[in-house]
Amino acid sequence: MTVKGLINGIRIIVESDPDAASRTAAELIARQIAEKTDCVLGLATGGTPVQTYERLIQMNASGEVDFARVTTFNLDEYIGLDRQHSQSYRVFMNTHLFNHINIDLNRTFVPDGCAGDIPRHCAEYESMIQSAGGIDLQLLGLGHNGHIAFNEPGSPVNSRTRQVDLTAETIEKNARFFPTINDVPRHAITMGIATILEAKSILLLALGEAKSDAVDAMLQGPITQSHPASLLRNHNDVTVVLDEAAAGKTSVVDRSAISMD
Ligand code: PGA
Repeated sequence: MTVKGLINGIRIIVESDPDAASRTAAELIARQIAEKTDCVLGLATGGTPVQTYERLIQMNASGEVDFARVTTFNLDEYIGLDRQHSQSYRVFMNTHLFNHINIDLNRTFVPDGCAGDIPRHCAEYESMIQSAGGIDLQLLGLGHNGHIAFNEPGSPVNSRTRQVDLTAETIEKNARFFPTINDVPRHAITMGIATILEAKSILLLALGEAKSDAVDAMLQGPITQSHPASLLRNHNDVTVVLDEAAAGKTSVVDRSAISMD
């Protein structure tokens, strides 16, 4: 069953399981593309969006969504991994989405973790987003500690694309993708909180019980830099898609379900 509601100005959709939630996220992305065929999408990596991308690939194959005129900007990239590294976010995006849809790879942008002059590269990344007309729909995952992209707790609300240090917790969580924890990069390039909040609309997907505390803090805790996702409540067009496990103790909709169709 789908439950829809509104908590502190954020639209919430709760689906029964990760598969249904991912289908819903894919449909919202497809709807954005249908509304504006040359839209600019902000995209995310990590475990969370994988099924959403699988669904978009299926929808593209069946003609339900057309990426021919779409431009994308990814949120972040590890510093020190080149574009061919198996754990780079460029390879992740090519493998999980771009190689399987009719997108022009020249219009897919991921920060370059091996840029020689990182501050300059970050400034150029911001300029490229502006030149493309800004992000129409930004897809986000949610960190256990409330991070969005690699904006860890304490990230300033006015932060823009920049180099950041990863927290010990994030390094530990991401170690599952590397041979050993020592192979996980310690630094990354990430869009900032301000960059993300400038997107015209935001779609955050969170799946699984392990995210339920972070979801609850995002929706119902204080709006604070200590929990970066809570800053999304300063944006006027945010949709959060959850499975029941991630919704956890969030009393979705305090039973005042609203229609969003
Ligand atoms: P995950 O990461 O999708 O792998 O859970 C999300 C995040 O840390 O932003």
